[in-house]
Amino acid sequence: MNILYVTSSLRGGASYSGQTGERVLAELREHNPDAKVVLRDLAKNPLPHIDGDFVAATRGPDGATTAQQRALLAQSDVLVDELFAADVIVIATGMVNFSIPSTLKAWLDYIARPGRTFSYSEAGPKGLVTGKPVVLIAASGGIYADKRALDFQVPYLKQVLSFLGMTEIEVLDVGGTAFGADAAAKAVDAALQQIQTRCTEAATRAVA
Ligand SMILES: Cc1cc2nc3c(=O)[nH]c(=O)nc-3n(C[C@H](O)[C@H](O)[C@H](O)COP(=O)(O)O)c2cc1C
Repeated sequence: MNILYVTSSLRGGASYSGQTGERVLAELREHNPDAKVVLRDLAKNPLPHIDGDFVAATRGPDGATTAQQRALLAQSDVLVDELFAADVIVIATGMVNFSIPSTLKAWLDYIARPGRTFSYSEAGPKGLVTGKPVVLIAASGGIYADKRALDFQVPYLKQVLSFLGMTEIEVLDVGGTAFGADAAAKAVDAALQQIQTRCTEAATRAVA
């Protein structure tokens, strides 16, 4: 099993989404001891914003025609290949200004590639990254469970991931981290409880 682990917290080791992510990986490894994890740390290694060269290289009629455009295409290809190589994708992120860190947005911009990760047809767009469950760990200072109209983090991520074909998304909500360390620890534990139950169910199904 290949696991792609995408992190983007701005808060280093203090990150609650990161702490939850590590424990989710431990849980997945327990059920799949040979699992290989590829880490894509977008906070430590941010991608540049996409620009005119990126669009020309990935969507223009002539493709990449300059060294800069070829480099951007190659970077995007690496990220897309990494995605296709994964059996499971774990994304850990914290809410930033009601949405996602710009580093995670840049990653989405690099992987959303017509002809590679989605295609257009008469029936409309079709996601090509199929059959890959996603564990989406979403930390936030506030609690949005009853205020989804204010949440542009989880609904946005679910929309863009499912557009690309990743429709099986398990959301682990680590909400309320701003309410103190105890509340945050409880939110992490509640999220983990959810994934443990899911892993046990999946493992039970696998041996049944
Ligand atoms: C720059 C910045 C902006 C933030 N914006 C929001 C926000 O709009 N709503 C919210 O509930 N929490 C917000 N927070 C709080 C974070 O979502 C919270 O600290 C969360 O735990 C971050 O994830 P992490 O612990 O994995 O880093 C913000 C934090 C930072 C640093």
